[in-house]
Amino acid sequence: MNLRIASLMVVMVLSIFSFSACNNDDDSPDPEPTLYEKLGGTTMVSDPANPGQMIEQGRLGLRSVVDSTIFVIAADPNLSPFFATLLMEVGNGNLSNLAILSKNLTDFFTVASGAENYSYNGLNMKDAHDPATNPRMASKSNNTDFDNFIGAVVTGATQNNVPTELITEVGALIETLRGDVVQQ
Ligand code: HEM
Repeated sequence: MNLRIASLMVVMVLSIFSFSACNNDDDSPDPEPTLYEKLGGTTMVSDPANPGQMIEQGRLGLRSVVDSTIFVIAADPNLSPFFATLLMEVGNGNLSNLAILSKNLTDFFTVASGAENYSYNGLNMKDAHDPATNPRMASKSNNTDFDNFIGAVVTGATQNNVPTELITEVGALIETLRGDVVQQ
């Protein structure tokens, strides 16, 4: 009888031990880093565009990609017609909407890649790409235009030495928006 009670107690103690071990937070795996973290995340670095100021490394990387991509788009005869209003302004020496687009695109990609210290306040992707709600979009885009846009972002990212596996992740992120952006 005593032996049975002793065995039972051993089993109970072992069960309690294994239960608490399963609930030990230290055993849970670290969450997968966000794309933003992989791009440098919140580490503060000096901002080459604004001497004396600091910027999150992830945001600096994305802003560099966005600005390179805008140049690639402007030089691409398939994509530039969509940006006719913007390119006309730039041609006339008015850079204010170019700065707004750069900020909006950077905000969008910053938030979409998982940043927490920024927000996107521009149009949603459907309205931004419908000439009826955004007259700065010259015409609706189709799947080929969207593929060309991805190509421009890949070129912009490559120019900034973004590692291939992260470019693939950026491409996958953009792909999730095809349904809203492509409207013909
Ligand atoms: C997933 C892919 C895309 C993203 C994330 C994106 C993002 C954006 C954002 C954030 C804006 C600014 C919205 C605002 O002003 O509030 C914008 C504007 C615009 N987008 Fe896109 N876009 C994408 C694809 C495309 C494609 C495929 C085209 C054309 C082929 C395009 C053409 C434009 C144009 C013409 C504007 C207006 C630019 C201006 O302000 O003058 N976008 N886009």
